[in-house]
Amino acid sequence: MSQQPALIDPFGRSINYLRLSVTDRCNLRCTYCMAEDMTFLPKQQILSLEELRDAAAAFVELGIKKVRLTGGEPLIRRDILKLVTALSALPGLNELTMTTNGLLLPNMAKPLKDAGIARLNISIDSLKADRFKQLTRVGELEQVLAGVQAAKAAGFARIKLNAVILAGFNDDEVLDLAHFAIANGLDISFIEEMPLGEISSHRRRDTQITSEHIRQQLAAHYSLLDSAETTGGPSRYLRVADSDSKIGFISPMSNNFCGSCNRVRMTAEGRLLLCLGNEHSLDLREILRAFPGDSARLKRAIVEAIGDKPERHHFDPEQVDIVRFMNMTGG
Ligand code: 5AD
Ligand code: SF4
Repeated sequence: MSQQPALIDPFGRSINYLRLSVTDRCNLRCTYCMAEDMTFLPKQQILSLEELRDAAAAFVELGIKKVRLTGGEPLIRRDILKLVTALSALPGLNELTMTTNGLLLPNMAKPLKDAGIARLNISIDSLKADRFKQLTRVGELEQVLAGVQAAKAAGFARIKLNAVILAGFNDDEVLDLAHFAIANGLDISFIEEMPLGEISSHRRRDTQITSEHIRQQLAAHYSLLDSAETTGGPSRYLRVADSDSKIGFISPMSNNFCGSCNRVRMTAEGRLLLCLGNEHSLDLREILRAFPGDSARLKRAIVEAIGDKPERHHFDPEQVDIVRFMNMTGG
């Protein structure tokens, strides 16, 4: 049965991509993402596996074609493989992907691939072990590197690295990170830091660096070719001459990409977020728990919520407009 996309927002954007956070917890504490002392949600507030599946099924029936599992760190969710297996069986879903910090990939890469994850994004912001530890507060770089190799060995195609670049912190590693990606046949996206959540490690206005600045650093060393490619997200890509790798730029601060936004997010507690940069959300958990199995009711609520999708985000690094942290948001 072919289905027309049913989710069109008031600005004519077709919503076909869901980012699904499966936990707000993480085995890292990246300074730009979390406060030092985070309180996490009590377990009963987190959607169960069945609730996650039912919610995802409703979205897919409404025309969502791509689902990305995120966190926190999705791989620390117990039974994540069961969820992947259940979601990859949903008729109409074209692509199931995941964003991970890579720590658990040495054991999980192959089972994830077998369960139906088509592509992986792996976050890595530094290739220096001491700096990686500082940035993540607790992380061992070696583990992530082993995770990247495990993902390659498991046969994932087009693995993408994600690097958030902070001026004065890791902006001297742009070339090293790009080189690492190219040498390993990976893609890489450089991400501008967004002011999500109140943090204490740095003032975000001091660490802002634009994608254009990063591009210039790269252009001095690589022959970069414009590319119209898209993976259905806000990344703008360049091709590196004589390599398979793409270099992407995610520029929420310097280049508003909301006009082509095709996505919504659901938090681990079942709040539907219509926009990363707005607080507005709809509590889908309430519906999932009050009316289990009532997919028609869930779908009506989702369709109605899409009618409230804001036109764009307005980020200002001078202030924290959004109190939600990224781990709550679903990176
Ligand atoms: N701004 C930009 N990116 C962020 N991430 C987490 N917090 C922020 C933030 N405040 C990134 C992670 C990961 C992706 C899921 O989101 O580094 O790559
Ligand atoms: Fe964990 Fe990703 Fe946040 Fe780092 S950025 S603390 S890896 S969720």
